[in-house]
Amino acid sequence: MRKIVIAGNWKMFKTQAESLEFLQGFIRSLDQMPEEREVILCAPFTALPSLSKNLHGSIVYLGAQNVHWEENGAYTGEIAAPMLTEIGVRYVIIGHSERRQYFGETDETVNLRLKAAQRFGLKPILCVGETKQQRDTGETEAVISSQLEKDLVDVDQENLVIAYEPIWAIGTGDTCEVNEANRVIGLIRSQLSNPNVSIQYGGSVKPDNIDQIMAQPEIDGVLVGGASLEPESFARIVNYE
Ligand code: 13P
Repeated sequence: MRKIVIAGNWKMFKTQAESLEFLQGFIRSLDQMPEEREVILCAPFTALPSLSKNLHGSIVYLGAQNVHWEENGAYTGEIAAPMLTEIGVRYVIIGHSERRQYFGETDETVNLRLKAAQRFGLKPILCVGETKQQRDTGETEAVISSQLEKDLVDVDQENLVIAYEPIWAIGTGDTCEVNEANRVIGLIRSQLSNPNVSIQYGGSVKPDNIDQIMAQPEIDGVLVGGASLEPESFARIVNYE
């Protein structure tokens, strides 16, 4: 059975105080949410410890936005998996397009990070997706196929979430047409050895398009940027109909 997984990616937003303020408004709205939905907040590193304390006993899981492949070492500015699991972090986003685009992340480092996350008890959310130019030149399938092939070498597909995030749809308000997102996610699934991996859609997910997105048979959840920053809008998303 594929699980429904709804994750907020806060990117580089929210201080510790702002994170706790969000939580106060958000937690209340989960009372009516069907139990089989998994909700994750992927917060900045500095907000994770206090969120973890305040989420104790709640159904919301915590995620980080990156993790290094070594257990420790001389890697200035990086974070190791045991530092995350110690404070109750369960998920980690790996290979987000912003890391690939601005911080030199490659399929090889994505693969190292995925394997390390799993080795140390974190569940990775692997992001894949094409640029506008790649889509316009008909390369979408090839690009995603190549990302999956390289990123998933020796990765355990029993402990994995994938997010299809077309780069041109991120932060632009230009959501991928739902049938097309459904089609690409179906293609991703056809390339996996485990048919039960949950595959999310990400890119301008909002309260007003969530019902339509989640009605698609291949889409098992969403990875939400901007609309996860306000408790009311993220609450509407997790409580989709
Ligand atoms: P937006 O929802 O702001 O488009 O961001 C999507 C994203 O990058 C989630 O990881």
